[in-house]
Amino acid sequence: MTNQQKLGMFQSSPEELDANEDFNESMCPATKMASEFEPFSEAYIKNPFDFFKRARREEPVFYDPKSNYWVVLNYTDIVNIFRDPETFSAALARHPVTAMCPAAAGVRDSLDISIEPSLVDEDPITHKVHKKIFGDAFTPKRVNEIEPRIRSIVNGFIDRFIENGRADLVAQLLYEVPALAIFIFLGADDDKALMVKQLGAVRAVVSWGQPSEDEQIEMMHDISKHWEFTKQLVDQALISPGDNYLGDMARLHLSDPTKFTVNYLCNVMFLMQFAGHETTTQASANGMRALLENKDQWDALCKDPKLIPNAVEEILRYDSSIFAWRRITTCNTKIGEFDIPKGSKVLMALGSGSRDDSVFENGDSFNIFRKQKKKHLAFGNGVHFCMGAPLARLEMKIILEELARRLPHMKMVKGQKWDYIPTLAFRGIKKLMIEWDVDKNS
Ligand code: HEM
Repeated sequence: MTNQQKLGMFQSSPEELDANEDFNESMCPATKMASEFEPFSEAYIKNPFDFFKRARREEPVFYDPKSNYWVVLNYTDIVNIFRDPETFSAALARHPVTAMCPAAAGVRDSLDISIEPSLVDEDPITHKVHKKIFGDAFTPKRVNEIEPRIRSIVNGFIDRFIENGRADLVAQLLYEVPALAIFIFLGADDDKALMVKQLGAVRAVVSWGQPSEDEQIEMMHDISKHWEFTKQLVDQALISPGDNYLGDMARLHLSDPTKFTVNYLCNVMFLMQFAGHETTTQASANGMRALLENKDQWDALCKDPKLIPNAVEEILRYDSSIFAWRRITTCNTKIGEFDIPKGSKVLMALGSGSRDDSVFENGDSFNIFRKQKKKHLAFGNGVHFCMGAPLARLEMKIILEELARRLPHMKMVKGQKWDYIPTLAFRGIKKLMIEWDVDKNS
């Protein structure tokens, strides 16, 4: 097994549970912020931004011995890391934050799944080749042609609750729409979208959180079912390639099988089904909360829907669904003034970089009229920049357009408690209650 594979998606081992990390403490910067860094505490999960603000001011790079991560808070340092994939390897991106328990590792080893590094956690040489192939095929035409179907799905969901005067926007709209959208894009049957969504339900917590043993075992079984579904999807596309993104990739493979293997194709499809929906669900949910908490901006957007594309960017900057992402160093290096040893794990606080006042004026305030479009870090930066960004942007735009058109009079239900999925990387409210006067429906 190569070093990259050892860091792969499910390749954490029970030995990591009591691994004695090889770190020389004399190399640490003063770690006042480290002593306050509790990434799984309720306070941080609910609101990491106050911590980010203080850390950017006091210790924008610090080493946290408890988690064994170098935490990086400034925009420029994060961009520099993203832009140097040789030194800051993406191999760690999907490696479980919490080492797998022996029982889950046993289940994993008994399963017939062949996950390999694919795009998001791939090393530079093969990543470059594969990103060119899979990225070039992700064309504006392929994205734009599904717009009418996504719009009709969004309206179908709104139809189901618009006469009720009250709804949970997450459960009744935002949960399912992105899963359906990625399924249409890939050419999978709509009726399996919910099943795949449910199979991926605990994956964010298992890979980026502090899962229980039962959750780890459950996820390994779910992974197996999801992998089997993906293999069938790919096999079918190879027999009869459809007029969609997966069909394009299947035709490419059939015309020249040396471009990528069938297993690699399965891996990318497996990745895209997960990357393509949890993220968009959560970013949209956080965004709707921000808009309704800033009611004057919601009203302005409803009056002038041309503001929506800019509002989408502001949502992604202000409170996106991936608020931290990881790298591992391949050699001794520096971040800012700090010496970072080879093999160090690095946590880039994207949600902090995207609010850095040196780049975004009043970074902690939500402002859909903001000028610095698209500079935010929600989709990363550099060679691994999110391949699905155009699709995510389109979905978020349609959701906002249809809600603004049909329910401009909605309000947030007062006194809600905000419950987030507890992970190091993903951030999204689980529920968003809204209410409106049905007599005002048009
Ligand atoms: C709001 C929604 C989304 C957010 C916030 C998001 C965020 C991200 C981030 C932070 C990365 C890692 C970038 C890096 O390591 O430098 C990434 C990579 C990726 N995302 Fe997204 N994503 C979203 C939606 C999507 C969708 C809809 C798809 C699929 C259709 C997708 C597919 C991918 C893929 C394939 C990669 C790997 C690209 C590479 O390594 O070259 N994402 N995304």
